Amino acid sequence: MRVLVTGASGTLGRDVLPVLLAAGLDVRALSRSPRTGPPGVTWVRADLATGDGLEEAVRDVDTVLHLASAPYRRGYTREVDVDGTRRLVAAARAADARHLVYVSIVGVDEVPWGYFRIKVQAERIVRSAGLGWTILRVTHFFPFIEAALRAAARLPVIPHDPGIRSQPVHTADVAHRLLATVTAGPTDDVEEFGGPEVLTLREAERQWLELTGTRRALVPVRLPGRLGAAFRAGHFTTAAEPVGTVTWRDYLTRTPAVTMKPGQ
Ligand SMILES: NC(=O)c1ccc[n+]([C@@H]2O[C@H](COP(=O)([O-])OP(=O)(O)OC[C@H]3O[C@@H](n4cnc5c(N)ncnc54)[C@H](OP(=O)(O)O)[C@@H]3O)[C@@H](O)[C@H]2O)c1
Repeated sequence: MRVLVTGASGTLGRDVLPVLLAAGLDVRALSRSPRTGPPGVTWVRADLATGDGLEEAVRDVDTVLHLASAPYRRGYTREVDVDGTRRLVAAARAADARHLVYVSIVGVDEVPWGYFRIKVQAERIVRSAGLGWTILRVTHFFPFIEAALRAAARLPVIPHDPGIRSQPVHTADVAHRLLATVTAGPTDDVEEFGGPEVLTLREAERQWLELTGTRRALVPVRLPGRLGAAFRAGHFTTAAEPVGTVTWRDYLTRTPAVTMKPGQ
């Protein structure tokens, strides 16, 4: 089975490539830049924002695993995530691909957040693609939470809303879940995947402070308005089974860069 992976150079993509290769799949990876490795991957250059290279990228592909995204870039986000997904879908359909897998975010249709609205539009394009599809909504990746905490730790105190819960997940776990999705074939359905534990923001912050040796006071702050209410409503967690295997504590203790103090 030949699989085209968009977003192959990204946080998730870098973990997906070796998992697909180890399963014996023929892996083609898409990027806007020339890239190499890991051994066995064939890189193709294409740009979702313009459509350049897409026709060649999808040629003779069975499955498209669509991970690429350009979050928080205003108009460019729409060009890549919405228009780019439309271009990719059209190219995949023209090439007779069998299965389109799209990675989205748990809570995307419940939380009134600009990037989430873009993801919902991309999901709609995938659902009406005219080829077999599966959407996998995933909870927050560990590096995303880590980056947010590092940014927050630049302040003298770290604010947190005690009502917000999260179920963060390791991208290697997501990669294995995606392999199962790819090999199972299209379900024409929206599925979900999350990490092994639900944590309050305060719990996640406390573990991070402890394991990075950072000293900061945690200050409770209630996020206002509809957005705050949506953040507190549990939309960032899922009851879906199976779940990932790596906990936030495992991740923090196994990733050497994370055990350094911020700023080191
Ligand atoms: N971060 C989270 O916590 C989280 C949680 C759940 C789901 N997700 C979803 O998971 C997916 C992967 O996220 P990630 O964090 O791995 O992303 P990332 O690290 O930000 O990587 C983004 C990827 O998109 C590609 N890309 C950007 N613009 C492009 C364009 N114009 N044409 C072609 N490719 C383009 C980049 O490829 P090049 O630079 O090589 O061209 C890069 O590989 C996204 O759909 C995201 O919404 C993320």
